[in-house]
Amino acid sequence: MKAVVWHGVGDIRLENVTEPKIEQPTDAIVRITTTAICGTDLHFIRGTVPGLKPGIVLGHEGVGVVEEVGRSVRNFRPGDRVLLSAVLGCGSCSYCRSGYFAQCDDINPYGPRAGSAFYGAPQDNGSFDGLQAEYARVPYAHTNLFRLPDSISDDQAIPLSDIYPTGYFGAVIAEVSEGDVVAVWGCGPVGQFAVLSSLQRGAARVIAVDGHADRLERAQALGAETVDFNEEDPVEAILDLTRGVGPDRAIDAVGVDAESPRSGPAAARAREQDHQHREELRQIAPETHEHDGHWKPGDAPTQAHTWAVESLAKAGTLGIIGVYPPTDRFFPIGTAMNKNLTVNAGVGNHPRYIPKLLAMVESGVVHPERLVTQHEPMRDVLTAYEEFDLRRPGWLKVAVDLTS
Ligand SMILES: NC(=O)c1ccc[n+]([C@@H]2O[C@H](COP(=O)([O-])OP(=O)(O)OC[C@H]3O[C@@H](n4cnc5c(N)ncnc54)[C@H](O)[C@@H]3O)[C@@H](O)[C@H]2O)c1
Ligand SMILES: [Zn+2]
Ligand SMILES: [Zn+2]
Repeated sequence: MKAVVWHGVGDIRLENVTEPKIEQPTDAIVRITTTAICGTDLHFIRGTVPGLKPGIVLGHEGVGVVEEVGRSVRNFRPGDRVLLSAVLGCGSCSYCRSGYFAQCDDINPYGPRAGSAFYGAPQDNGSFDGLQAEYARVPYAHTNLFRLPDSISDDQAIPLSDIYPTGYFGAVIAEVSEGDVVAVWGCGPVGQFAVLSSLQRGAARVIAVDGHADRLERAQALGAETVDFNEEDPVEAILDLTRGVGPDRAIDAVGVDAESPRSGPAAARAREQDHQHREELRQIAPETHEHDGHWKPGDAPTQAHTWAVESLAKAGTLGIIGVYPPTDRFFPIGTAMNKNLTVNAGVGNHPRYIPKLLAMVESGVVHPERLVTQHEPMRDVLTAYEEFDLRRPGWLKVAVDLTS
């Protein structure tokens, strides 16, 4: 079958690999009809999140049709249309039972203290082959698959695999509630859903920050007030907008590939910090492989959460959903401590939220497909990766169609 395979930093290929087989009685095999490219995949290719095993199939977002089930899968049968949760749990351990699917004790073959399990990820995250492939093996299918009604299209469903539950989780861990003023850092696909979810949880105002006009426009269309960090100092702009108080809650939807401002009043301070940012990047990501302008790591890994911490109101809450690798040991702990901030972080507990979000999509309350801007056939997946990596205007979320 055709699949996107990670061979090394800066090296992904579309090639033929062996089809997956049922390995455990709790497995299912799913024929993927739609997959997607995520900012997380970019970290792996840029080298800013290390630890993948060469040969692993990439991708963790998918919609498909059940092809085969193991004998312990009692809730699905061949032919069922399903959504695959990007984050995996066993559904039986004490962590899964209390909703912490991302900290499942059983699913990661590297043990209960290894990382959260998801497809197409570093070895510590379980090394499960990913979903940018014609077929995929789903472990603990009873928990990690969700039946899709015919009324929900692949386009409506694909954001529910990862980016919508992640954005929603961001609003939950940032403790967003009615009346809050929320700052969302990063307006990529995940940031857009963090904006939407914050409003759903009752935020009175959402201020969205990014350096790309097209992404800011989309956040504004969802109801956010926007700040372009290449035009304004975002910390000053947010303080101005909140009468000097700052937002109650902030969500970091950027992660380790954060960038420093290229222009505007914040660029001067960023230039002074350039040496420090470079040193941080060198320690976090010792191996990068920029090639022909592609796969360039962000130049300021601490920039987004540092701005978030600086601008938050005293005693505010920061929710970190942007991904940082275990090699990252930099965080403005002193400022956070002295402002009595609460800091929550993590991989989304997707199976906990997917049923609720799916019901909202089914009932027409939300239209997640509006954020899926690109539809590419599998044969063009590598070009699509390159465009998404460069954040070409308009290229917000790329769905990859495996049926054409
Ligand atoms: N925690 C989870 O479970 C989970 C799940 C999925 C994705 N993620 C992570 O969420 C993050 C966002 O994913 P995405 O697909 O939207 O990626 P993306 O790369 O498309 O989006 C990142 C956005 O941040 C913006 N940005 C860069 N530097 C910034 C700065 N200093 N301040 C504000 N904005 C800045 C970029 O312009 C871009 O629009 C990634 O780190 C990804 O790995 C986490
Ligand atoms: Zn994703
Ligand atoms: Zn579990």
